Amino acid sequence: MEVQAEPELDADIAEIGRSLARRGHSAAALKRVPQERGLNLVGRDPKVRAALLQLVDVAPACENAADLAGHLNSYLGQVGDSGGRPVAIAAGAARVPGTRALTGQAARVAINRMAHRFIVGATPEQAAGELRLMWSHGNAISVDLLGEATLTEAEGAAYADRCDRALSTLALDARGWRANPLLESDAAGPLPRANLSVKVTALTPLVRPQAPGRGQRDAAEHLRRLLRTAAEAGAHLHVDMESMDSREMVFEMLLSILAEDEFRSGPSAGLVLQAYLRDSEEMLDEIIGWASRTERASPLTVRLVKGAYWDQEHIEAIQHGWVPPVWSEKADSDRCFERITRRLIDAFPLVRPAIASHNLRSLAHAIAYSRHRLLGIGDLELQVLRGLGDDLAEALARDGYRARVYSPVGDLVSGMAYLVRRLLENTSNDSFLADRAAGADLDSLLASP
Ligand code: 2OP
Repeated sequence: MEVQAEPELDADIAEIGRSLARRGHSAAALKRVPQERGLNLVGRDPKVRAALLQLVDVAPACENAADLAGHLNSYLGQVGDSGGRPVAIAAGAARVPGTRALTGQAARVAINRMAHRFIVGATPEQAAGELRLMWSHGNAISVDLLGEATLTEAEGAAYADRCDRALSTLALDARGWRANPLLESDAAGPLPRANLSVKVTALTPLVRPQAPGRGQRDAAEHLRRLLRTAAEAGAHLHVDMESMDSREMVFEMLLSILAEDEFRSGPSAGLVLQAYLRDSEEMLDEIIGWASRTERASPLTVRLVKGAYWDQEHIEAIQHGWVPPVWSEKADSDRCFERITRRLIDAFPLVRPAIASHNLRSLAHAIAYSRHRLLGIGDLELQVLRGLGDDLAEALARDGYRARVYSPVGDLVSGMAYLVRRLLENTSNDSFLADRAAGADLDSLLASP
């Protein structure tokens, strides 16, 4: 099913997109993103991208940032000359014992700089001031405690403890934030100020697509506890979707727990739908079916994203000789994103749509469509990532929309996989931000995919 061409809607999309671009999505601001020193290393070279994915695999086992930088070094060493001059220099240095430590340091400096852009603070306490500031600038937040692909059950339990404490700390801090009706309610009811995003693969090491039962039992206990804490604290708990290895399990587990009697009255909760998956519209059918059958005090928030694991899904499928689960063409993902956006908006207030993107066309399309469907301005939520969408979030706030900034909190080692995903996304041939930073024409970027 294609999205129908509608001249009136297209005119609104163009107008909204231009206004957002003027206010906060200037090409100059965007240039800062992919062109920061150190990020240049990545380029568009497949070998460099593969080296970065290796780094993601090894990151959870690293003890500290120096250890991590050492691994980055050795992977770049394998890339050799094909990564261009910066990689060749790094790789050459990595082969010489005298400069190996130095290259490690340089890698560490580049990674640290990137981390500061994307990570709000090392702990919820350290992040508190910045979160309050973001709220006072008119943006809602979702704190993401960095962590994923945990290796032991003890680490999973420790991560759950941290989430538990973060929920309480955040809810307590948020009580002191200034009132802002747009960020705190929509036509379906109140929206918690405190909002935490978690990844199930950080809660248990036992996520295995072939044997989902054990992982599900282990994660379910942690998740129930976090839902209880969120309900007591009046906070929202959002469960992120990751790669296909865990998707089915996370999806089934979450919907089944949220339907339990204990959780009918709360807390507010949400999940993620990834439009780059070919079957994402079938997932949406399931979500909407579940929401129609399940009575809960607050509607499920569905965060629609393009999806952040494209390289991983693509490489894995090709290695196994499978058809990749992800669309190979950007336009297919973008069209799917728009179809799902419309269905989510049509389904409000059965579900709450939260449209997460840095693509101006996707955001403007969501705003224009919700207007055409006569939704209130606060009945649609827009989301962006800290470090990439800050200017856009401020522009959205100035235009009167509710934008929520996904705000990672944690240390470098637990954030490495997250940082690498941001790098891969923003250096891919399909990056809206990179195209915009390179000066691509706004009208063509706002055209229907
Ligand atoms: C990620 O961790 C933003 O949840 C998304 O890449």
